[in-house]
Amino acid sequence: MNIDISTTYMGLELRNPLIAASSGLTDSVDKIIKLAEQGVGAIVLKSIFEEQILREIDAQGVNNMYGTYQDAENYVSFYTREHNLNNYIQLIQDAKKAVNIPIIASINCISNSEWIDYAKRIAEAGADGIELNLFIMPANAEKTSAEYEQVYFDIANSIKQHIKIPIALKLSSYFSGMANSMVKLSQTGIASMVLFNRFYSPDIDLNTEKVVSGNIYSSASDNGNTLRWMSLLHGKVSCSLAASTGIHSWESVIKNILAGANAVQIASVLYEKDITYISTMLKEMENWMVSKNYNSLKEITGKLSSAKINNPMMYERAQFMKYFSNHY
Ligand SMILES: Cc1cc2nc3c(=O)[nH]c(=O)nc-3n(C[C@H](O)[C@H](O)[C@H](O)COP(=O)(O)O)c2cc1C
Repeated sequence: MNIDISTTYMGLELRNPLIAASSGLTDSVDKIIKLAEQGVGAIVLKSIFEEQILREIDAQGVNNMYGTYQDAENYVSFYTREHNLNNYIQLIQDAKKAVNIPIIASINCISNSEWIDYAKRIAEAGADGIELNLFIMPANAEKTSAEYEQVYFDIANSIKQHIKIPIALKLSSYFSGMANSMVKLSQTGIASMVLFNRFYSPDIDLNTEKVVSGNIYSSASDNGNTLRWMSLLHGKVSCSLAASTGIHSWESVIKNILAGANAVQIASVLYEKDITYISTMLKEMENWMVSKNYNSLKEITGKLSSAKINNPMMYERAQFMKYFSNHY
């Protein structure tokens, strides 16, 4: 039986819903070709980090080196920024020539000054879409949630004004009125939302008594939050949805699609198991669909979303107490 596992994501036609997430696995043309050979539906390039570029400029000691020579300082800052951006643009152009699946560029923006220029140049280079990796840690006790959340709306509205290719927002779940914020953000004209990004998390080394980096890879149990919000938002938002974080198996791909995802993004599992696992995931997904008599992915997308099931409380339940009171 011929199974149709194609999907529409960010307004782009994907041969299947598996997307290689932005990571070190998507930072060169050679790696991109290998991912495409394994069968991925699309690729999100490693992010260009505005923060990193600014740090590089700083590391060159531009400020000290040139003292009061403002022109020279400006020139070196400009050169460093251009150099990084030009490499990224070259990567987009080479990737577009090398593979025939959508190439989505990724920008990690931290300010309003630089990213519009990046985004315009990236769109001109031929990227099929842009994923904006947005996160503002709401750590300032002086600032209200409304002030923090407004920044996301300003960025989404601003980029839609300037950029014509599809835009995805890769978000965290650090929103106070989560469902309301997600629905309103989806109405700004963006093509998609990625739920959710995974961040560097701190840990403490008890031997050295120092703060260290936590595990950079996710684990399968990290997917619960994504699954919950995917199901709660499917059918309510005005854009497509990609699931991300903790998708480590073909079973998890299917679960996220049943909950409402149009596509899924994977990174950790590809580091831990190798990229050849992509073709295994695709094969197993198809086998499951055959065993259940499904012909197309569209039949299962959102089938178990909160709006479609009889007991949506299963997704909203937050308290362990009552549910697990008999669990010893
Ligand atoms: C080594 C590594 C590098 C990553 N680099 C980026 C990046 O540059 N930009 C970005 O938006 N996400 C980046 N991510 C996050 C992934 O795209 C993804 O959202 C996250 O790892 C959750 O998916 P997973 O559970 O499948 O790993 C990176 C993840 C890893 C493990």
